[in-house]
Amino acid sequence: MSTATLAKGIEETLDGPIGYDVQRVREDFPILTQKVHGKPLVYLDNANTTQKPRQVIDALATYYSEYNSNVHRASHLLGERATEAYEGGRAKVQRFLNASRFEEIVFVRNATEGVNLVAQTFGRKYVKEGDEILISAMEHHANIVPWQLLCAEKGATLRVIPINDAGELLLDEYEKLLSPRTKLVGITQMSNALGTVNPVKEMIATAHRHGVPVLVDGAQSAYHMAVDVQDMDCDFFVFSGHKLYGPTGIGILYGKSEHLENMPPFMGGGDMIKTVTFEETTFGDPPYRFEAGTPHIAGSIGLGAAVDYLTGLGMANIAAYERDLMAYGTAALSEVPGLRMMGTAKHKASVYSFLLDGIHPNDAGELLDRQGIAVRVGQHCAHPVLQRFGVTATVRASLACYNTREEIDALVRALHKVRELMGA
Ligand code: ALA
Repeated sequence: MSTATLAKGIEETLDGPIGYDVQRVREDFPILTQKVHGKPLVYLDNANTTQKPRQVIDALATYYSEYNSNVHRASHLLGERATEAYEGGRAKVQRFLNASRFEEIVFVRNATEGVNLVAQTFGRKYVKEGDEILISAMEHHANIVPWQLLCAEKGATLRVIPINDAGELLLDEYEKLLSPRTKLVGITQMSNALGTVNPVKEMIATAHRHGVPVLVDGAQSAYHMAVDVQDMDCDFFVFSGHKLYGPTGIGILYGKSEHLENMPPFMGGGDMIKTVTFEETTFGDPPYRFEAGTPHIAGSIGLGAAVDYLTGLGMANIAAYERDLMAYGTAALSEVPGLRMMGTAKHKASVYSFLLDGIHPNDAGELLDRQGIAVRVGQHCAHPVLQRFGVTATVRASLACYNTREEIDALVRALHKVRELMGA
């Protein structure tokens, strides 16, 4: 074993890191054993949402069957247990992201709501007419539209960092776009449509040299690689629980305390206030200032279980395993005649977005489904980046910690069959 490998704590082989037993991992995901259309399910739509391990499903069932109760409000034992488990989920996420403070973790519905929260609070407070918000050409709609709404309201301008033909950001252009008018940079850590992994740490350092705060969209990255918000030094980081093997309807906004403390509320209601009279309301401190109403209690508990599960596997192990699988798939797919890959960045993870010559992605998706292969087809909620490549839709296969080389082989066989059936 090399010193470098030892230092990483992982020994890698052709099959991925030693000690990462993917068959054992698969046993934790009950949904994966089924057949669809009479064929074994090959689930490759993970960038859309991932499947849930038994540990998450059990945590949800236990909450609802043993201690379902509201949080922060009940004066009884079940309420205490629910509050402890709900706040426990927050503490687990804090450790998972390596946030320095518990108060920096805000529960939202999903990454989309996290971005909207920042746009509607931080953005509304600090962005003025003539200011600029800088995003990239590969953003998901969730990191475009909230800023457009804000810019329209404020008379500000949305500027876009361009990309090259491989789907990599043009960093020289990025630096040129930063100016005294720039009030915030919003960038994805990993593109859902291309798989590109962006050098966010360097980009944040650049933005900070110009005094500009940065929001990182971690919806696609947080379940593929270890995230350390202190090391990255982002001002905001958002992700969705359902992509991180947790439940739908729960997401996270991480914000540096120095920002959250100065931000006005997002929504008004119970649990986000200190005092209320008809004349005046005073607001609670973060994170509760941003969490009006009964929260998604089961969501926090389920997300906490997902975080425990991933921590048990080790994010570094998952990343190493998926890196190996990604390389295997890239080589295997390059052998499929007429397959054109969109997104060939040097730093890329877990997404194959491609076209088959002469075959509409919708037809390919349907024929793959008939063979048990679940992928996403279409524009992937990222219209502008598809337009950049001059296409209206792609087929997207995306990987997670339970996928195997055999499943990649099944995808490749199924693509040959698609070509045969379509007469290509
Ligand atoms: N669910 C979205 C996707 O499939 C984000 O990429």
